[in-house]
Amino acid sequence: MSAESRSVRITVVGTGYVGLVTGAVLAEIGHQVTCVDKDQATVEALRQGRVGIQEPGLSELVFRHGTTERIKFTTDLIAGIADAEAIFIAVGTPPLPNGEADLSAVESVVSTIASHLKRYTVIVMRSTVPVGASVRVRSLMESAGAPPHLFDVVSNPEFLRQGNAVADFSAPARIVLGGESDRALHVIERVYAPMANAGIPVVHVSNATAEMAKYAANTFLALKISFINEVANICDLVGANVAQVAAVLGMDQRIGKHFLMPGPGFGGSCLPKDVSALTHTAEAAGYQFRLGQAIMHVNQLQKEQVVERVVQLLGSPIGKRIAVLGLTFKAGTDDLRDSPALFICRALHQQGIVLNAFDPGGMKNAARELPEVSLHETAYLAAEGADLILVLTEWPQFKSLDFHRLARIVSRAIIFDTRNLLDQEALQAAGFASFRIGHGSFASPALARDGERSSNGYPGRTPVTRDAE
Ligand code: UGA
Repeated sequence: MSAESRSVRITVVGTGYVGLVTGAVLAEIGHQVTCVDKDQATVEALRQGRVGIQEPGLSELVFRHGTTERIKFTTDLIAGIADAEAIFIAVGTPPLPNGEADLSAVESVVSTIASHLKRYTVIVMRSTVPVGASVRVRSLMESAGAPPHLFDVVSNPEFLRQGNAVADFSAPARIVLGGESDRALHVIERVYAPMANAGIPVVHVSNATAEMAKYAANTFLALKISFINEVANICDLVGANVAQVAAVLGMDQRIGKHFLMPGPGFGGSCLPKDVSALTHTAEAAGYQFRLGQAIMHVNQLQKEQVVERVVQLLGSPIGKRIAVLGLTFKAGTDDLRDSPALFICRALHQQGIVLNAFDPGGMKNAARELPEVSLHETAYLAAEGADLILVLTEWPQFKSLDFHRLARIVSRAIIFDTRNLLDQEALQAAGFASFRIGHGSFASPALARDGERSSNGYPGRTPVTRDAE
């Protein structure tokens, strides 16, 4: 039997990447959406169809439904509350210094809703909030004077990847609805009816289970990455090939093939924050979440190891020049939050290394976050005179760089590709000494000979590419 499909009047609070994607996709599937943000400039820009977030497909949706008037933007939360059947809360919950999630933005929105509620409304928790937050929201609402029969709280965690968020929300693997009230669930089922009717599974659980599922999902993804990073490090020592090991693992459906790419450590605004928050939640509940601690510890060591290896490859670091390709926490975003590049670049700078960098998407944020790095408009400009090229983000455009040209302009043709992204044959043909993670590159002491230069002033090449498949 198909679910009832009828337009729902929805207010989404917060126009960050979760809120805006939620609002835009809900408009796309036929609902009447009001997006609220307290920032006047953001709202003005959105009204004119200008989206400040790099997310494929998002601008098109915002523009299209601005025109159809299925999506409106306002700073007026009270007006947004008045007419809504469901209010989706999608404001930020950044980590406090102790790893706990800061719920002050959620609480401020909730207290405004509480004092202006006139009709039955479902409050939907879309932000990632600690287990138990929905209960806290209910009691906050009641203590702020909201009549208990006028609202219910449903937990509806998002599973959106940055750079893929519109696609992830338009065709999610599952829709998780946490809550006990049939009346509320009926409203939210109407919201998701077009997706449910298209065969996407809808999972009904309690609020606490929905909240826990979100943290468990991100923690498991982080676990897979820390796992493969450690396996890669062992591969290096024993002469095994991590890409082939991961491919073998991935053929077992119990393991799955995704999130098994080694790298410089995971970053972003979600994985590190959520592993820490779950570890904190466990501790507050009297449980020591040892795996959570280990995931974060391994992640930190991975970044430190990249620094150590760069120094090892350079011989003596002081005054050496590095070209860093990629600074964002992953490709397809302008985001540097918790990017491994932040720690790695700062640590290399502290060792006296001169850093030049290029990133296809994150230059604006990098200029703010990494004053110790000189930014250049192209990879070639960043690479001029470099003693080593360090690839930190898996931007696909790096694959088609002209390695012969790069080899001519660097001081030493050494490349450390922490994402295992580049074509080894092309690097080898251009004369690069190539180093990767988990391919035996670091099985023996560094090959670099300090200060080496060829007679023509071009690369003092390490004679062999150690990175044979
Ligand atoms: C993550 C989750 O993947 C989403 O499902 C979740 O909804 C989102 O957090 C969230 O909580 O909002 P995101 O932070 O956008 O999404 O980034 P990911 O694609 O998960 O990548 C995270 C980090 O892991 C990146 O630094 C990436 O380079 C790294 N990574 C990923 C690896 O090092 N290896 C891999 O195999 C995969």
